[in-house]
Amino acid sequence: MSRRLLVTGGAGFIGANFVHHWCRVYPNDRVVVLDALTYAGNLPNLKLVQEQENFRFVLGNIGDASLVNKILVEENIDTIAHFAAESHVDRSILAPGDFVQTNVVGTFTLLESFRQYWETKANPDNYLFLHISTDEVYGSLCPNDPAFSETTAYAPNSPYSASKAGSDHLVRAYYHTYKLPTIITNCSNNYGAFQFPEKLIPLMCINILMGKPLPVYGDGKNVRDWLYVNDNCRALDVIIHQGKPGENYNIGGNNEVENISLVKTLCQIMDELAPDLPVRPSEKLITFVKDRPGHDRRYAINAHKLKTELGWSPSVTITEGLRITVQWYLKNHHWWKPLLSEEYQDYYRQNYRDSRGVFQ
Ligand code: NAD
Ligand code: TYD
Repeated sequence: MSRRLLVTGGAGFIGANFVHHWCRVYPNDRVVVLDALTYAGNLPNLKLVQEQENFRFVLGNIGDASLVNKILVEENIDTIAHFAAESHVDRSILAPGDFVQTNVVGTFTLLESFRQYWETKANPDNYLFLHISTDEVYGSLCPNDPAFSETTAYAPNSPYSASKAGSDHLVRAYYHTYKLPTIITNCSNNYGAFQFPEKLIPLMCINILMGKPLPVYGDGKNVRDWLYVNDNCRALDVIIHQGKPGENYNIGGNNEVENISLVKTLCQIMDELAPDLPVRPSEKLITFVKDRPGHDRRYAINAHKLKTELGWSPSVTITEGLRITVQWYLKNHHWWKPLLSEEYQDYYRQNYRDSRGVFQ
């Protein structure tokens, strides 16, 4: 069966990688992207597919019900892959309102439009609302705690994770109340091509290339479980085709690493691959800065369910994935340079100034 997908947030990092994956593997499916092109949305991310006949880009907000209704009908959509969100924890600390608006209210609007559309259909089982969420909804782990499973209680700690948890609860409620076919995925930290410069890995790569300080929060011992974005896309593909409505699936890379160790690895890879670095060895640039308020100590994902029920496992190790990613940022200056805009510099100054107001 060929599908007709509406991909929200498809001009962002994971959404764009997902669109590339889908258009490559399923050239006969229809892919419509709805994206508001916030600071994190970037049309060049979709350059590879823009000319394909089966692809359409719509500029707009998930909170615009009449636009969403129009797309659903016009395009005869059967599957929504919902990536659109405000996604950066540090920005959620500086300005939480946008997170509630897009992640909670926006997701509600999208769900409600899809429900009304889906209720008119004679074959309701052929529809799916796939909601892309995060492991951050589960809160923070101590060093010896078991990894998050699908039954771990929600305990979000940041405005970002709280807004994502709110959206997850709405999606869950739409399944239970209306039997709308929904699936939620909770994935760990993604990395790879097209990630906006504010996130840890691209930020470190770009600062190394520019000879700027590498700001490591707190003691650098916070742990994240890194997932190569292409592996996430493979998981989402399997889940769309074989996942069970009403279920949650955790997606993780099985790569728990302390931030400081990750940053040092990036420095080593950069030193090896980039001949003209302004500062060498790049480890000299590492600077410990004030911690993020409420900084979650450790995330870890148990992806056993996805492996045993749907046969998915990650295809690359963190070492392989980081090398590919560093090579991508090295080759794609023309992609990331325009993203270091005035808006980005303002955010950077605000986020990285210390208690004396001194920029770090
Ligand atoms: P991103 O910030 O790179 O991209 C978000 C996209 O959504 C952008 O293109 C933006 O323009 C669009 N958008 C924002 N608000 C919108 C709105 N109101 N209407 C329409 N479009 C809007 O995010 P990402 O890193 O690609 O994350 C995608 C999804 O995956 C998010 O839901 C995020 O919570 C989740 N997630 C991300 C990670 C990660 O490591 N990046 C990890 C776990 C979960
Ligand atoms: P980030 O990429 O923002 O993802 P998340 O907060 O969603 O996990 O950050 C990953 C880790 O890196 C997190 O523990 C915070 C830390 N970090 C720094 O130490 N310095 C930085 O400049 C950034 C952006 C993040």
